[in-house]
Order: sequence, then structure tokens, then C-alpha cells
Amino acid sequence: MISKPVTPLEESVEAPEDLKLWEVSADRDFALALHGGAGGRIAELADGRRRDFEAGLSRAYRAGEEILRSGGSALDAVCAAVEVMEDDPLFNAGRGAALTADGEAELDAAVMTGDGHAGAIAASRYARNPVRLARAVMERSEHLLLVAPPAELVAGWDLSVVTPEYFVTEARRQQLVRLQDRLVTGPRHGTVGAVARDTGGRIAAATSTGGMSNQSAGRVGDTPIIGAGTYARDGLAAISCTGHGEAFIRGVVAYDIAARIRYLGSGPAEAVTATFQNELSGRDSSGGLVCVDASGRIVVAHNSPSMFAAYPNKGKLIIHT
Ligand code: GLY
Repeated sequence: MISKPVTPLEESVEAPEDLKLWEVSADRDFALALHGGAGGRIAELADGRRRDFEAGLSRAYRAGEEILRSGGSALDAVCAAVEVMEDDPLFNAGRGAALTADGEAELDAAVMTGDGHAGAIAASRYARNPVRLARAVMERSEHLLLVAPPAELVAGWDLSVVTPEYFVTEARRQQLVRLQDRLVTGPRHGTVGAVARDTGGRIAAATSTGGMSNQSAGRVGDTPIIGAGTYARDGLAAISCTGHGEAFIRGVVAYDIAARIRYLGSGPAEAVTATFQNELSGRDSSGGLVCVDASGRIVVAHNSPSMFAAYPNKGKLIIHT
């Protein structure tokens, strides 16, 4: 018996009501945008940490910008920006990352360049800067994604090795206890990332995270999944995402945006809007992203209540907290 084909999903072109989106044209011959996580930060902001988050985002942006200004590569710039946030315990990446239900930090990261090279790690515990290890996988191995990379590998690539305790902060321990005692609810994600276009027209994306607080040991989110949380392709765009990882994987969100630009001829803001509508808001999932297209246009967007972000507009650094 031949069964009837399942009706394909209806595509909606409406902008979702919960979407907040900013688009800025490049006003220099390079472009850089970064995010420091979406959702789950309201409590910290109310605690009077807004200035600290702003300072952290600004430091990360300046680290990447300095590289681009002096003619450096988009890859160097996104890695430098992400590293600053990994070293800053306020952000959910590197030291200060969200903890698993067992109280451990398991770190995911990915990098991708527009010419199709990519490297990623999942459940990493020994590399001080997960983004550096993801880059090393891309540049020094024949693989793309390594899970639970051993300390010997990290040391063998001359990257800084730390013990797993290095990543665990008291603030994250307390957050985990509150979550496990059900004293707080709501989104528990964070994630940091950056996208850039350099003066040579090359684009790159990098993303790094501890995942979701209280996640099961071994859970891997969208960050190291190329096409889900991280993607770059010359002529199209570089995208770095933050949010509910499972939804970003199911929607192949970063690639969906690039595919809309590639196959439908959409502009980046239009592509991002359609992806949010059809893959995230329309499916009750939340998060955000930064995107830079081949011409240096930047899109910053989220449907979560807030997203930490930094990007330039008319010569000024704009910071969202
Ligand atoms: N977006 C990060 C994660 O879900 O792990």
C-alpha cells in the first residue's frame, strides 16, 4: 500500500512578535559582532553586575577589533574575542561555564572559516581556552569534531592545560544548587560567540559554551555542531548562535540562514527573520545570534528576553546587556 505523503511544513514569512533584530551596514572595511549569551541572565543583572558584563563585552570586542584594524584575519579576530569571554568568569564559556548536573564543566566550542575549514570539540575538560582547542583540531588534525579530548592531546599541541576544577566557580555552584532545589526556573543557557569579516573579505565564526546549567553529563548542544550553532561560508555569511541548543540543532539554524541567503537570495536580516519564525519562535524555542554577511553587514537578533551583544554602528561600539 502506498501511504499519502506527509504535507510539507508551511513556511511563514511573518516576523515573529518576540523577535528583536538590529541590522547595521559596515562603516569600515572590516566588521565584527559578538554575543555573550541569551536569556537566563536577568538575575545577575539585577544583582548589579550590568557594568561588569558591559566591560567584559567591550574588552572582547576590542581584542577582536584590534586584530582586524591591523589587517589580521577574521579567524584570529573571532578567536581573540571569544578567548576574552572564556577567561571572564561572568560568561558561560571557559572559566565560569555552566555546570552539569554532576557539578562538572564540560565545554563545547567550534570555529569555521568561510573557505570551508572547521574544527570543534565537545565535553572538553582540560584546555584552558576551548576555542583554541577547536581551532587546533581544524589546523592540526585531519578531523573536525573531537569529543572529550584528553589532556595529553591539549599539551601535545602546546595549548594551556588546566585541571577540570579551574572552570568551576562558586557562582556557578550556587546557580546549580538553586536550579536543583527548583528555586529558579526559566532559560539556563548562555554561550559566547563572534563573527567577523576582515579587510581581505574573509569571514569566520567562533562559538564557545558550557552548555545548559544542570544538563546531563555528556549532553552536547548546538555550539560544536557545524551548521547548527556555528557556520561560515564565503559569499554568504558567518553565524554564531546562543540559546536552546536542541532547538538550534533541530532547525540547523546557522545553516538555514546561510541557505536562505544562498538559494532564496534573501538579505541577511530577511534570512534571520524567516529562520527565527520557522525554526525557533514558531516552535516555542528561544535564543539569539550574530551574523555578518559577505559585504560586512551585521545582524544581531534574539527572541529571548535579552541577549548580551557588542557590534559597531556609525563608528560607535553598541553594547546590549
Ligand atoms: N547553545 C548552547 C547549548 O545549548 O549548549
